[in-house]
Amino acid sequence: MSNTVSSTSHMPRPKYDIDAWRRRIPLLRTTIPMNNCSQAPQTDATRAAADHYLDMWNRQGMDWDAWMAETQLAKQAFAALVNAHVDEIAVFSSVSDATNAIASALDFSAGRSAIVASEAEFPTVGHVWLAQQPRGARVKWVPVRDGQVDPNDYDAALGSDTAIVSACHGYYMNGATQDPADLAARSHAAGALLYVDAYQTLGAVPVDVKALDVDFLSSGNLKYLMGVPGIAFMYVRPELIERLRPTVTGWFGRANPFAFDAKTLDWSATASRFDSGTPAIMNAYIARAGMDLVHGIGVEAIRHWHTVLAHRLIDGGRARGLILHGGTDVTRKTASTAFMVPDSHAVEVAMRKRGVLPSARGEVIRLAPHFYNTIDDVDSALDALVGALGDTGAV
Ligand SMILES: Cc1ncc(COP(=O)(O)O)c(C=O)c1O
Repeated sequence: MSNTVSSTSHMPRPKYDIDAWRRRIPLLRTTIPMNNCSQAPQTDATRAAADHYLDMWNRQGMDWDAWMAETQLAKQAFAALVNAHVDEIAVFSSVSDATNAIASALDFSAGRSAIVASEAEFPTVGHVWLAQQPRGARVKWVPVRDGQVDPNDYDAALGSDTAIVSACHGYYMNGATQDPADLAARSHAAGALLYVDAYQTLGAVPVDVKALDVDFLSSGNLKYLMGVPGIAFMYVRPELIERLRPTVTGWFGRANPFAFDAKTLDWSATASRFDSGTPAIMNAYIARAGMDLVHGIGVEAIRHWHTVLAHRLIDGGRARGLILHGGTDVTRKTASTAFMVPDSHAVEVAMRKRGVLPSARGEVIRLAPHFYNTIDDVDSALDALVGALGDTGAV
C-alpha cells in the first residue's frame, strides 16, 4: 500500500499537496479507508490533540480554565467552517442531543403542531421528532423517491400548522444532497423554521449558514471533519436564541455556569443556552484539530477533489457492472457513492480482508473518499468490492 500518489501523474490532482497529507495518516500504510461517511481515519494532528489532553491531565491533574477555553475554541472552529459567530454555536455529545435540544424548545401544543421531516433523515433525527408526539406534535414525512427527495414534495406537507422542517443536507444512505437555501425559502414562506442535519456534508461541501438562511444546522465530527464520536455542534440563528428555552438543559446553559445556584434558571444570552452538562473536553481537543485541518485545506478545494473522485466511482462502478443507489449528478451529492449489494455486512467484512474499509448500510455498500484519497484508491476499492461480491458468493 503506497502512501503517495504514484502512477497517476497524467490524472487530475487536487489543489493541495495530497502526498504530504497522506504521510500524516498512518492507517494509509496498510489500508484504504473509504468509510469517511462513517468514521474518518486518525491524523497526526488529531492524535497530537488527544495526547495533549492526556498529558495535561496527567501532569496537572486538572486545568479547568484551559478546558473551558478549549471548548470555546472548538465552537470557534465550527463557527469558522459554517461562517457563523462563536456565540451562535452550541456544543453537544451527539446530533441526537442537538435535535432534542431544539425539539424541547418548541411548543407544539397550540397553533403550529406539525413537524415536516424528510424520509432521508438519519433515523435518530426521525426518532427525536416522533418522540414529540405526546407533546402535541404530528410528524409529516416527505418521501424519498429513487434515492432522493424532490424539493417540490415539501410544499404538499408544508402549511400554516408547520412548526419546523427537518431536512438532512446529505442523505446518509447514498450521499444525495438537498439544497438548504431552497428549503429555507419554502419553510420560511410557510412561517416555519428549518433544521438542517449537515453531518454528511460538513467538511465535504462548503456551508455558509448566512447565505443558506437556515435556522439551525448541526453536525458531529467523526465523518468529514476528521474527529471522534462524542461531540457535536449546532448553529442557531441569533434572532431565535432569545425566544427559545430548551427543557433539555443543564448548568452550561446558564448565563454563568459557575454561579452554582440550583434555584435560578437563567438563560445564557448566546447559543450556549442549548449547552447542557460538562462538555466532552477531550473530544473538543480532537474535534478542533480535525476542523482546523479541514478548514486549513479549504472545503472548496476538498469539494473539487471529491467531485473528481465521485465521477471515477460512478463511471468505474458502472464499468464493473455494479448497481448504483441514487442519482448520478455529482453536483447533487456529497462524497459518498452507494452500490446495491445482497448482504452489505458480509461484503464489508470481505472488503476489509482485501485491505479496503467501506461502510455497509442496509442494502448498500458506501464508498466515501475524502481529501487524502487518490484515484488509485478509488479503483482499488471498486476492484475490492467486485472481489468481495465474488468472495461472498453474490456473483
Ligand atoms: C446524517 C446523520 N445524522 C446523524 C447521525 C448520527 O448522529 P448521532 O451523533 O446522534 O449519533 C449520523 C451518523 O451516522 C448521520 O449520518
